[in-house]
Amino acid sequence: MKPTPINKALQTILAYHQQTKHHFQRYASGHDGLDWKNQPKPFRTFEDCTELELPLLIQPANALYNDLYQAEKISSRALSLKSVAQLLELSLGISAWKQYDNTRWALRCNPSSGNLHPTESYIITENCEGISDGVHHYVSRDHILEKRCQFKHEKSLLPDNSFLVGLSSIHWREAWKYGERAFRYCQLDAGHAISSIRYAAAVSGWQAHLLTSASDADIETILGINREADFAAAEREHADVMLLIMTESTTQSTKSSDTLLSLKKLANRAGNSQWYGQANTLSQHHLDDWPVIADAALACIKPETDEQIWQAPVFPEPVLKPGSGKAASTIIKQRRSAQGFDVSEQLFAEPLLTEKALYRMLDLTLPRQATPPWDAISWEPRIHLLIFIHRVEGLESGLYLFLRNDEIKMKFKASLKQDLEWLKPDDCPEHLQLFRLAAGDAREAAKTLSCHQDIASDGALSFGVLAEYQSKLINKPWVYRQLFWEAGILGQVLYLEAESAGLRGTGIGCYFDDAVHELMGLNKNDDTLQSLYHFTIGKALKDNRIQTLPSYAHLQRSNSG
Ligand SMILES: Cc1cc2nc3c(=O)[nH]c(=O)nc-3n(C[C@H](O)[C@H](O)[C@H](O)COP(=O)(O)O)c2cc1C
Repeated sequence: MKPTPINKALQTILAYHQQTKHHFQRYASGHDGLDWKNQPKPFRTFEDCTELELPLLIQPANALYNDLYQAEKISSRALSLKSVAQLLELSLGISAWKQYDNTRWALRCNPSSGNLHPTESYIITENCEGISDGVHHYVSRDHILEKRCQFKHEKSLLPDNSFLVGLSSIHWREAWKYGERAFRYCQLDAGHAISSIRYAAAVSGWQAHLLTSASDADIETILGINREADFAAAEREHADVMLLIMTESTTQSTKSSDTLLSLKKLANRAGNSQWYGQANTLSQHHLDDWPVIADAALACIKPETDEQIWQAPVFPEPVLKPGSGKAASTIIKQRRSAQGFDVSEQLFAEPLLTEKALYRMLDLTLPRQATPPWDAISWEPRIHLLIFIHRVEGLESGLYLFLRNDEIKMKFKASLKQDLEWLKPDDCPEHLQLFRLAAGDAREAAKTLSCHQDIASDGALSFGVLAEYQSKLINKPWVYRQLFWEAGILGQVLYLEAESAGLRGTGIGCYFDDAVHELMGLNKNDDTLQSLYHFTIGKALKDNRIQTLPSYAHLQRSNSG
């Protein structure tokens, strides 16, 4: 596909965003009812490929959850079939099956809007013991690799002891349920997947960097998703990102990761290699009835760019919880979305979260060098948090703002309404830019703004994710996708932090965009900031009607240590 001229592309993506807002009087266009007979299959597979069974973890990996944030505490595992299998299992693998009556569905380590999982994944390996050199598609249901492409024996292009993980999205999967807003959800899901991969790499003491200079065209060629004949009538995949996973600790920055490897050369190699397999069709009949998604995707195609590298500031070490804590792999696998929160009287009397625990959570959303998941990306933080505090011990209920970038405070002050408090809580650590904007019960506002969902009001707190918007997209419309990825990366931090605090999180893609802006006094036509995501944390209610089954009991498979 040819990219659209830059100014037209910018207009297209701004218009897409505007058009796909939910309003109190009108939701973004979607289907009237769900077309169940054309529900997309949850798993993509390629027929006529050699399959490689991956070993499974039999016990939690050694690394502790706390240690993920202290790189020096986890020694690096060697690159092998087993260690690559572990990375895939702990990032994009199945975490459990759920059953209600005769319906069974899989959950994965990475969350997804509507559990539709538009994100597909591939690994590209050279010189990895047990895996042939080439491109492999990961099927999480079976924990297997399908060999899509075999590289010829040539000089290795990947840096030593490294491999690539490529991600793509099948927009149709989300559009089937959510209509026009689906393109946004695909990007949020991709962000969660990036974060999941970064965390899973950290469990093995590895690094993961997004190759931000890469063009979508090169990623498509390497993943083979531009091979018309291999897809025929099957739903197409769109390039998201390529992550370089490095097993050996390096002090090199992300800039070096981009320069360590020429994706162009790799695309050339993939283009001239032998490919195998035919993509399965996910829905028998469907109309491509959301042309606005195709237009948005086209407008956001990324060319090869010369990336500016932003150096994360040096903050004090994040405060870590005392004690040994849980294994990182346990927290990763137990992550779920809460469907509802407990609001029983007794519980109301107890704080769900302390002020200190919230500060730690917020601290982990700050980018630090060599700290997951933020060291996977190399751009300056562009998203910030509006926080609806309901029940946090030590903090008055109300509306708060957390800025992830010091320099942005004046811009926010100028854009938001003038009568806000801007009060920093007394005990808030100096480096955390947390401000109370207004005190009071924020539950009704949180619920209403999140499409009237109780989960936004019944927990300890909920979040709105605000992005610095139009100024960041000028001449770079593809940054639109990156803003959502950043929101998804942050969402994954909150999901894992909620689990480690004995609570549970839920991502919220359904919210009334402009109403959120109006709450802060942002002018309706002001594109300085836009709301891209919501999130909530509380004490989950257990639904005893739903059975939980183990992730891979359906496979007869030898295990890995
Ligand atoms: C981008 C995104 C948006 C979501 N939006 C909502 C939402 O509006 N309401 C809700 O109850 N759950 C929402 N969820 C939670 C998903 O339904 C959940 O991730 C999915 O069912 C898979 O379950 P799991 O997270 O327990 O693995 C969202 C999740 C993501 C990642």
